[in-house]
Amino acid sequence: MQCYFDYQATNDLLKGRIVLVTGAGDGIGRAAALGYASKGATVILLGRTISKLESVYDEIEALGAPEPAIYPLNFEGASWPDYQQMADRLYDEFGRLDGVLHNAGILGKITPLQGYSPTLWQEVMQVNFNGPTMMLQALIPLLQESEDASVILTSSSVGRKGRAFWGAYACSKFAVEGLAQVMAEELENISNVRVNTLNPGATRTQMRAKAYPGENPASLRTPEEILPTYYYLMGPDSKGVTGQQFDAQPPKA
Ligand SMILES: NC(=O)c1ccc[n+]([C@@H]2O[C@H](COP(=O)([O-])OP(=O)(O)OC[C@H]3O[C@@H](n4cnc5c(N)ncnc54)[C@H](OP(=O)(O)O)[C@@H]3O)[C@@H](O)[C@H]2O)c1
Repeated sequence: MQCYFDYQATNDLLKGRIVLVTGAGDGIGRAAALGYASKGATVILLGRTISKLESVYDEIEALGAPEPAIYPLNFEGASWPDYQQMADRLYDEFGRLDGVLHNAGILGKITPLQGYSPTLWQEVMQVNFNGPTMMLQALIPLLQESEDASVILTSSSVGRKGRAFWGAYACSKFAVEGLAQVMAEELENISNVRVNTLNPGATRTQMRAKAYPGENPASLRTPEEILPTYYYLMGPDSKGVTGQQFDAQPPKA
């Protein structure tokens, strides 16, 4: 696996690009949305809590970056017509997409399989995998309108090697890895769309605090500190790189 932990993104790396970020209101998605905007992208902020998206919108405006757009969507309740409508609206507004960072996700519960609520299992699969899959299916034509499009799907270390008690979350991330491979191979020779997965690694966010309540958050990297690989994969330097797995942080010594 090649590493881009120290990748230096130029200030105009994403100039003129239109990039959708899911889960853009908080955590890593918020940092990535701000970072992409600061590198020149027009960022479409997708998420379920409008007030959070509005705060990120205001922060981007304050940076003097290209004006972003807000797209409220809840992966839990959205169905196929919602994603078709989304693709139509984005096509009317922008005509293409140069990037998608699918980052939204929920943890579910860390608990033994035999006690895992089937309702919660379905919710986690819907938010982390089924909904985003429908979204990407609908968005493929917009990505194909780009001369150089990058899709980044957020994975996890438990989506590459299973771990006891991580249940639906781990399985949803394995599914995301599978989707990325299928999509990458389908699009490789017929489009300029590349598809890769990125594991953020332990990062100081609300999700991490929920998973590890006893951990000192100060011992973790912040979302802003893990962005170099997010930049590398979204920008032109990764053109032609597809179907691969990336980590945003070096392994712990
Ligand atoms: N932090 C880590 O250590 C770590 C490690 C490995 C992988 N990851 C992955 O990295 C990604 C980001 O995680 P994070 O730590 O930044 O988590 P986070 O702080 O909990 O943020 C998750 C984001 O996803 C959004 N979201 C949740 N459910 C949604 C839904 N139904 N529809 C639309 N948006 C929804 C949230 O919106 P609201 O704010 O409105 O709830 C929030 O913006 C996730 O895919 C996670 O699995 C994180």
